[in-house]
Amino acid sequence: MNTKRAVTFLKKKINFSPRIFMILGSGLGELAETVKNRRIIDYKEIPDFPTSTVPGHKGRLVFGELEGKKVGIMQGRFHYYEGYDMDKICFPIEVFKELGAEILIITNASGAINRKFKVGDIVLIKDHINFLGINPLRGGPNFVDMTYAYDIGIRKIAKSVARRLGWDLKEGVYLFLSGPSYETPAEIRMFRKLGADLVGMSTVPEVIKARHLDIRVLGLSLVTNMAAGILKRKLSHEEVIETGKRSKEKFIRLIREIIKKV
Ligand code: HPA
Repeated sequence: MNTKRAVTFLKKKINFSPRIFMILGSGLGELAETVKNRRIIDYKEIPDFPTSTVPGHKGRLVFGELEGKKVGIMQGRFHYYEGYDMDKICFPIEVFKELGAEILIITNASGAINRKFKVGDIVLIKDHINFLGINPLRGGPNFVDMTYAYDIGIRKIAKSVARRLGWDLKEGVYLFLSGPSYETPAEIRMFRKLGADLVGMSTVPEVIKARHLDIRVLGLSLVTNMAAGILKRKLSHEEVIETGKRSKEKFIRLIREIIKKV
């Protein structure tokens, strides 16, 4: 895998350097449809770029303008559960960096462990737990500080924007695990004791990589379901996709307002 080939290819296709990059999770890709002066590039066109296999996830990069700012959006991401290794999952982050990324806005769908959260809530990620135990920076002396992985300044902006919109934006700790099976109720009880508020199958590898490359991160999570065992019923992938669809407008509004301010 060669970032240079991908970067050279992309630089020929777009003649600007977006400062802001976004990775949009399940059902949240719609934001990319509202980008102005769009330049769309399928992952499969880009040399060495992985391709996506999950229903509900498109596989393309969208470049253009949102709220007057140049952005690059990844519509559809790569999950560990799909079988990708960490290098593939984090490849786009390296490409973004080379294209000029300073800020990464990363979104995902999650199950709520915290009982104060409800389905449809958008939660600001303030910290994470890498329950996978595998680190994308393995292979070198990459002792990256993770104390402020989720940028405090951008979190403040997100909170003030939400307050102005009259929303109560909650904050939480996101626990990342492999999937693709959902968790058992016993696991969820354990994760609650460990200090997790949300559980999901993405985001953490990309965030670690972004911090390594000194890209500031904003993480936003859409609660698509209460985690296993909280409600006495089964979880389904369809439910996750459905909630994404229902909440996308709210999500898009929030991200647009944040982009104005960063
Ligand atoms: N668990 C793991 N990942 C998820 C969930 C969940 O309950 N909901 C959405 N992504």
